[in-house]
Amino acid sequence: MELQKASSVSLAEVTKQKEYIELTATVLRARFGHETPKAFVHTYGCQGNVSDSERMKGLLAACGYAFCERAEDADFVLFNTCAVREHAEDRVFGNCGALKPLKEKKPHMIIALCGCMMQQEHIANRIRKSYPFVNLVFGTFAFHRLPELLYKVLTSGKRVFETDETKGMIVEGLPVHRDRSVKAWLPVMYGCDNFCSYCIVPYVRGRERSRTPQAVLEEAKQLIADGAKEITLLGQNVNSYGKGLQENINFPELLRRLNALEGDFIIRFMTSHPKDCTKELLDTMAECEKCARHLHLPVQSGNNRILSEMNRRYTREHYLELIRYARSVMPDISLTTDIITGFPGETYEEFLDTVSLVREVNYTSMFTFIYSPRKGTKAAEMDDPVPYEEKSRWMRELLAVQEEIAAKRTASMVGKVFRVLVEDQTREKDGLLTGRTAGNVNIDFAGEASLVGTFCFVRVTQAGNWILHGERVE
Ligand code: SAH
Ligand code: SF4
Ligand code: F3S
Repeated sequence: MELQKASSVSLAEVTKQKEYIELTATVLRARFGHETPKAFVHTYGCQGNVSDSERMKGLLAACGYAFCERAEDADFVLFNTCAVREHAEDRVFGNCGALKPLKEKKPHMIIALCGCMMQQEHIANRIRKSYPFVNLVFGTFAFHRLPELLYKVLTSGKRVFETDETKGMIVEGLPVHRDRSVKAWLPVMYGCDNFCSYCIVPYVRGRERSRTPQAVLEEAKQLIADGAKEITLLGQNVNSYGKGLQENINFPELLRRLNALEGDFIIRFMTSHPKDCTKELLDTMAECEKCARHLHLPVQSGNNRILSEMNRRYTREHYLELIRYARSVMPDISLTTDIITGFPGETYEEFLDTVSLVREVNYTSMFTFIYSPRKGTKAAEMDDPVPYEEKSRWMRELLAVQEEIAAKRTASMVGKVFRVLVEDQTREKDGLLTGRTAGNVNIDFAGEASLVGTFCFVRVTQAGNWILHGERVE
């Protein structure tokens, strides 16, 4: 656990939460005596949520909790939820329902739900009515207030609901508890102002706000000192970093400053919105040796009418021009994307424009989603005549194309040498390590466990369906 330096942003709030940490710790000591209370934190959704959970775990550790891997062993269960698609919400409801018998066996157990789902009124109401065993519900704007909310639950014995969209502030200077030290998440901005017509994120995460460059750089330095070898900068749209800050700074400038920090590490970032992806950003990536040659640039659709209905504010042509430019300044760049199939009113012909774009760009990998209506968004009001089965069929067609592209790409990597960050020991296959290239491709190779967390050179010897196999070269 590390303590970040406090910044001037909402210092009063930080002081208040630190007082609640002390109060909660005292209550827990009185209840648990010499035993350490255990918390189970489960995170759904994107890396932004993972990063919030790391901060909440920092607060819980400061209150005196240790962490466990199963809800069964926990005195405090926290689900940090995601609202991006219906499927994500269904999983939370299912897993939450499964806690009921546990709570009956262990009545002192505190169950808390937080995150994007809880920021929606209809969801919080459903929990209030149908899940009476849930003790604490709070939204994305209140995650740093966990010590205060937990204290209220512990001392009042009442259910606490805190889902007001009071203000989206940035709180610096609270503890962070990270599970991994080699790969680190570093939020640079929060919220989203883009209102893509299908997306719930701007409603549950509030308006865009950036952390100061000082706060980002301080945290990066700390991470590097703690052994991080890969830092992923996070934001729903990192390209709008800097808006609203006193200092006149944009995302490329932030990248340059991070690149100038001492140490052997790589920088990644996600996500970049194509409408704000500038040539300056691509030039900066090309000139910064620590920036991974990888760009996640979600296109969503290859058809201009659908892009306009999605309120994405770029065209297929503009997107392809960005890709062309990116490849001209970084010939080895690896590109990945997100795609939605079956947006309301999309026709098969329009979907085929996405397929042709996917072929043209030649992505390393992509995340594909079937459109899921989100209450309160503009797209949820649109006519959506195509049945789900049909949309699934389009999706399978798209995946088959991507597999064909991926097979060609991986075959072309055989015989070449790549620098990889060794992420893990692949447990099932003893003695094998997993490394990830700067282009975000995994390679398995034989090596000592002590290599985990270091950079190695690996020659690809064989291309499997999902993973490449290789051998270490000294
Ligand atoms: N801010 C990021 C994406 C955040 S959500 C960006 O703009 O790229 C991650 C992905 O989920 C999106 O890129 C989109 O492809 C998908 N997604 C978002 N809302 C969705 C919905 N209602 N149905 C299906 N997929 C959705
Ligand atoms: Fe959602 Fe669009 Fe914002 Fe991404 S940019 S989070 S897709 S509204
Ligand atoms: Fe999900 Fe919220 Fe992230 S809706 S994708 S956890 S911002």
